Amino acid sequence: MNLQIRKAGASDFTAIWSIFHSVAAGGETYAYDPETTRQQARVIWMEVPAATFVAEQAGTVVGTYYIKANQPGLGSHVCNCGYMVAEAARGKGVATRMCEHSQREAVSMGFKAMQFNLVVATNEGAIRLWRRLGFAIVGTLPRAFRHRRYGFVDALVMYKWLEGE
Ligand SMILES: CC(C)(COP(=O)(O)OP(=O)(O)OC[C@H]1O[C@@H](n2cnc3c(N)ncnc32)[C@H](O)[C@@H]1OP(=O)(O)O)[C@@H](O)C(=O)NCCC(=O)NCCS
Repeated sequence: MNLQIRKAGASDFTAIWSIFHSVAAGGETYAYDPETTRQQARVIWMEVPAATFVAEQAGTVVGTYYIKANQPGLGSHVCNCGYMVAEAARGKGVATRMCEHSQREAVSMGFKAMQFNLVVATNEGAIRLWRRLGFAIVGTLPRAFRHRRYGFVDALVMYKWLEGE
C-alpha cells in the first residue's frame, strides 16, 4: 500500500473532521461527546496534542493520529495517542502503519512509553491490533464506557514501554 504518513496541516482539518465526526457520532469507540462540534474537534485533535499526523493515500487522507503527553510532570515520559481510520479504508493496515509510525515519533520526541487510556472492550479489532503491536492490557476499568448500543461496558488500559523500539 502506498501510504504516506506526514504531519497534519491546517488544510487537512476538513478531511480529519469527516473521520472524527463519524467515529465520535458512532459512540462506540471513543469517549468524545457524539455531539462534538467541528470547532471542539479541532481543539481536541489539532491544538491540544503535541503533534497530529495524517495518513494519505493517492492524495486522500484515510487516517489520522495524535500524540501527546499522557500526564504532566513526572508522568510526562509516557505519551498517549489516538487513531482513527476512515471507514472505507479500514482493514488494510492503515492503523498498523500509523501506530508503528507513532511509536518511532514518540521515541524521537523523547517519550519512553505509550499508554491507551480507554480501549473499549467491545472494540475487538482494535484490541487485537494493539496487542499484535506489543501493547499489554494492564488494567480493566469496569463499565467505564457508556456504549451507544450496549450501555456500560468495560474499558482497557493498554501500555507499551518503547525504549529499545
Ligand atoms: C481501530 C481502527 C483504528 C483500525 O484501523 P485499520 O486501519 O482498520 O487497522 P488495520 O487494518 O491496521 O488492522 C485492523 C485489524 O482489524 C481487521 N479488520 C478487517 N476488516 C476490518 C474492518 N472493516 N474494520 C476494522 N478492522 C478490520 C484487520 O484485519 C486487522 O486485524 P488482524 O491484523 O488481526 O487481521 C479503525 O477500525 C478505526 O478507526 N476505528 C474507529 C476508531 C477506533 O476504534 N480507534 C481505536 C480506539 S482504541
